[in-house]
Amino acid sequence: MSTLYSNMRPAIAASEAMTLPQRHYTDPDCFQREMEAIHFDMWLCAGRANQIPNPGDYFVRRVANASIIIVRDELRDIRAFHNVCRHRGTLLCNQDEGTLVGRIQCPYHAWTYKLDGALENAPHMNKVEGFREEDYPLNAVATNVWDGHIFINLSAHPVPFAEHLAGLDVKFRPWRMEELELVERRVYQLKANWKLIIQNYSECLHCPIAHPLLQKHSHYMSGDNEPPHATYLGGRMDLRDGVKSLTIDGTSLRSCLPGLNTADQRHVYYYCILPNFLLNLHPDYMLTFTLWTRAVDHTEILCEWHFHPDEISKPGFNAKDAVDFWELTNQQDWELSNRAQAGISSKGYRPGPYSNREELLLALDRFVLERVQGQRD
Ligand code: FES
Ligand SMILES: [Fe+2]
Repeated sequence: MSTLYSNMRPAIAASEAMTLPQRHYTDPDCFQREMEAIHFDMWLCAGRANQIPNPGDYFVRRVANASIIIVRDELRDIRAFHNVCRHRGTLLCNQDEGTLVGRIQCPYHAWTYKLDGALENAPHMNKVEGFREEDYPLNAVATNVWDGHIFINLSAHPVPFAEHLAGLDVKFRPWRMEELELVERRVYQLKANWKLIIQNYSECLHCPIAHPLLQKHSHYMSGDNEPPHATYLGGRMDLRDGVKSLTIDGTSLRSCLPGLNTADQRHVYYYCILPNFLLNLHPDYMLTFTLWTRAVDHTEILCEWHFHPDEISKPGFNAKDAVDFWELTNQQDWELSNRAQAGISSKGYRPGPYSNREELLLALDRFVLERVQGQRD
């Protein structure tokens, strides 16, 4: 092994770097506390602004027991609301995506809301003393957009979005993500706790065993992590000599993204923006994963491939090389994440020691414990 890829990270003490106890992966109460302290409190990546280009376009996202409508309103602003009628609580939209024709109408008793959430019409309420339509708008959810990525925040008092991004907007500006367009989406259902998916994402020690093709294109020890940050964990890896991108055969007919310098044309960046967004930036495309918690042992993953419109418009454009590469790699990762959940849920599980190259996993565990502890105090 070249010294370039030797283990230069500081040593750690096993006693201070152990995996979490079983309950953090199996106990519904732990899960609920994590939802309150983390997923219902932090900014979540919901999707892409160009998924809803026109007024009335919407999609729905679910976080544990919360259902949220993300919609473009008549003024073309992006808004988000709890997908719950203010009359008797019926779910308003039960399609994952679509277009609303100017209004959101409850299917039960036809209470009707404007796309900005205001209640416009509430039938049979004219003889209810003290009832005022303006008192019952849809419950709003905060939104923000970074470089084409829509974020939502379910907290009544969201931290400022810039604080959440903590400079990532500047760091990743050369990729010009806002310009990129969605070409392919895959949805996966994992029998795994959300933390296991981030933990699997945050180390490459499993790559030579689990991902022979990835290892062939990018050396598993080439990872160079940033020190863990309060809202993100990430690093980058090198492409091997002669490899253009992460595709099935390591080649790519696509040009590199237009803003990249020659050094970043040789790297793949892997950033987990806590708690639900995994961002892979390749020289010629972007891969995004959003994690949607369903239960302590169930997570839905939306995986999406985005390319530059100049490439998409070229005759013969084909994303299959990148889609197939990650479909293969994803299946390998999901299999391991499901097996990790199964083993950790088993009677014989005891916390085990992390490697010094699993420092981002330890950082995630500490982040979760601190958030949950802080919430209970
Ligand atoms: S529950 Fe929505 S209109 Fe009655
Ligand atoms: Fe992996």
